[in-house]
Amino acid sequence: MAPAIGRVVHSPFRPRIGRMIALAAAILLTLLPHATFAEEAWPLSPASPNAIAITNLFWFIVAIAVVIFVGVEGALLYALIKFRRRPGIRAAQFHGSTRIEVLWTVIPALILAVVFYLTVRTMLDTRVPGGDPIRIHAIAHQWWWEFDYGGGITTANEINVPVNEVVIIELDSADVIHSFWAPQLAPKTDAIPNKTQQLWFNARQPGVFTAKCAEFCGLSHAWMYFHVNAVPTDEYQAWLRAQRSPPSVPSGLAAQGRQIYQAQTCGSCHTISGVSDGKVGPDLTHMGSRWTIGAGVLENTTDNMRLWLADPSGVKPGALMPNYHFSPDELSALTAYMESLK
Ligand code: CUA
Repeated sequence: MAPAIGRVVHSPFRPRIGRMIALAAAILLTLLPHATFAEEAWPLSPASPNAIAITNLFWFIVAIAVVIFVGVEGALLYALIKFRRRPGIRAAQFHGSTRIEVLWTVIPALILAVVFYLTVRTMLDTRVPGGDPIRIHAIAHQWWWEFDYGGGITTANEINVPVNEVVIIELDSADVIHSFWAPQLAPKTDAIPNKTQQLWFNARQPGVFTAKCAEFCGLSHAWMYFHVNAVPTDEYQAWLRAQRSPPSVPSGLAAQGRQIYQAQTCGSCHTISGVSDGKVGPDLTHMGSRWTIGAGVLENTTDNMRLWLADPSGVKPGALMPNYHFSPDELSALTAYMESLK
């Protein structure tokens, strides 16, 4: 017996509608800005020539897709309304149409050829430029970023760059695969262990650009932010000079903090210029001047630094820094020391 048409006996989809709405809401929520600092990474406001070229290509492909969508859905709606079931109307029954089949093969092939041509052209246009650009060695770690400028300058989770100058990032990973994604500045590039990759950008205006790891890399993948701070050249040079000099010698509470730092062997993981040279965790030489703690998990404030030192993995799941169970006085002293590292 033929199945009944026109009457839904049982719809397997209905009970799922609630779940689908919940899923859509969850997806929308993840798209809402949630960065703790600066603006959220947003690929559609590019600020470097290569990112601009990629965004232009994106909009061109979106335009083609919109034309196709409107055309196909329009034809579908037209057919649905024009040939809807009515008394006395019978759909024509036929099989095969060479003309239509040729058309729907040739037109998409032509569209894809144009997209292919523009993609290859964009790839060639965005090759690493020559000259003598600034080079920064970026090493991705679970779950933070190390930036080595050479000449003894190392930062973590933020870089300063001059505007209108080409910056090349030499990208490596210390453990698993991560991905360097500063969407306003450069195409997303994977950080692969034992394989150095290159990317470049040229920030056309001053500003702070939010960037993040874009490859799932473990428990705190979501807390692997970094910031690119593009500043005028003279400001950049002043920043380099400040980074090269060791932090001032602490006094008072901060000096007590330094004693605790040394007594608790914090220095076997962290570098502070003139104090310790550990290489496991971020370099803390200028921690006091950084914007965030824990690669963007907290803004760098006194209260937040205390919170972090009291229980690192409680603040950032999986953080490798152990909980030292510091007393409140020790926390105050260490926090003062961290803040003195400018
Ligand atoms: Cu590193 Cu995700």
